[in-house]
Amino acid sequence: MLTPFDTSKLWIGGEWVPSSDGRTLPIENPSSGLTVGAIGRASRDDVDAAVTAAERALNGPWGALTAFERGRLLSRLSNLVLAHTELLTELEVADVGKPVSQARADVVALARYLEFYAGAADKLHGQTIPFLADYTVYTLREPHGVTAHIIPWNYPMQIMGRSVVGALAAGNAVVVKPAEQASLTSLAFGWLSQQAGFPAGAINIVPGVGAEAGATLSGHPSIGHVSFTGSFDVGVQIQSAAARHAVPVTLELGGKSPQILFDDADLETALPVLVRAGLQNAGQTCSASSRILVHRRVHDHVVEAMSSIYRTLRVGPASADLDLGPLISATQKIRVERHLDAARATGAKQVATGRIVDEAPEGGHYVAPQLYTHVNPREPLAQEEIFGPVQVVLPFDEEEEAVRLANGTPYGLVAGVWTRDAGRQHRLVRQLKAGQVFLNDYGAAGGVELPFGGTGHSGHGREKGFEALYGFTKLKTVAARHR
Ligand code: NAI
Ligand code: MG
Repeated sequence: MLTPFDTSKLWIGGEWVPSSDGRTLPIENPSSGLTVGAIGRASRDDVDAAVTAAERALNGPWGALTAFERGRLLSRLSNLVLAHTELLTELEVADVGKPVSQARADVVALARYLEFYAGAADKLHGQTIPFLADYTVYTLREPHGVTAHIIPWNYPMQIMGRSVVGALAAGNAVVVKPAEQASLTSLAFGWLSQQAGFPAGAINIVPGVGAEAGATLSGHPSIGHVSFTGSFDVGVQIQSAAARHAVPVTLELGGKSPQILFDDADLETALPVLVRAGLQNAGQTCSASSRILVHRRVHDHVVEAMSSIYRTLRVGPASADLDLGPLISATQKIRVERHLDAARATGAKQVATGRIVDEAPEGGHYVAPQLYTHVNPREPLAQEEIFGPVQVVLPFDEEEEAVRLANGTPYGLVAGVWTRDAGRQHRLVRQLKAGQVFLNDYGAAGGVELPFGGTGHSGHGREKGFEALYGFTKLKTVAARHR
């Protein structure tokens, strides 16, 4: 693969370095299953070196910058990202198997995050607090120091944008551990950051294995905060590792997010959103709407209309830019298929599927999108994050039942409510267990400005929007007595 940087190296302290023990990991193209190159595999020593480089940057040129100077660097990086849209798109298409237009949308989103936080960097400030007559009290928002960012493979650029960029705006130096399946655009981010003029060590990228590089990073005694997006099980491990040094964490652990459709909803508007919000990125989306709760009066009509959309969907290699690309890996494909086999065995009915095109290479990890009904709400298909192109439709009769179903999983990330009844909208907003609620829509074009995060097994802490900057800083209260 042709890249303007050496993919097999790590980006540490402003230099490309091989891993200390010379080991690498293969780059697999999910559309073909073929190995197309290698990335470095950071050892424990490499992670340690990256944390040290970040500390040095904080005590040196990076730490000395003013907030508006940090903003300017982020702004320059935003322009560089846009200027390299084609390169970044190509890398993501090959590495993640994202259809071209979805990969390109992620580049645009990354640039938007950089633009947003470039503008926000010098607008983050403390408060003055009225206290006793002979006191002046104020608060300072200080960076944590070195922040750790463990990134998954499903949206490498978007998650870089919402996690890493906010931390940089707030003045932290970052160490990023991208996913073993998808590190190329993270490495490109390091490469572009140098051209933007970021001081050495402000941004460090250490690809590697989760249980090795990721575990070392999240348990490192010198980091000030960990931001993680990925599975629930790994999230719990990361929180435990960070707890050894009382390090705070932000966890974004996915979900089983519902859209609730009442019989007074504008069905024509809702239908394409119901489907799209479940199948974007082949369903490998933390906020995927994998459960559709429908009032029984319109249930059959909605199932039929969704089915006709499903029947038009085509799955194929990312370069063909069809509706869906492959899943990320053979492992993920097996995981999804096991879930579906088990669900069918317990009575779930597959009512519609899309089609894998004939040109799809044999070795790619393709799964056709599938719509299910007759699913028991307590069964895994309606309870667990499948992370594949699968949705279930569940009927309800009463508003109260809809809320109970919506809240009836351990997760709570996003919810959508389709109804024209304003009273019902506001009742549900308060009752739903979710970090984001959409009324008469679902998902929002990246939603850079909108605070995002979960409750329950979906995790805790908020990223995106201005709110993220509070999480990436610690508050110091200063009480000055007048004497
Ligand atoms: P994962 O949670 O294992 O991987 C996410 C990241 O965590 C990767 O960078 C990985 O290297 C790192 N990691 C793994 N073990 C670690 C450890 N012990 N310490 C520190 N870092 C570690 O997710 P995986 O196995 O790729 O996917 C499994 C399931 O996780 C998916 O089927 C999906 O349900 C969920 N998932 C959710 C995501 C989301 O956006 N919320 C993203 C990716 C996966
Ligand atoms: Mg890959």
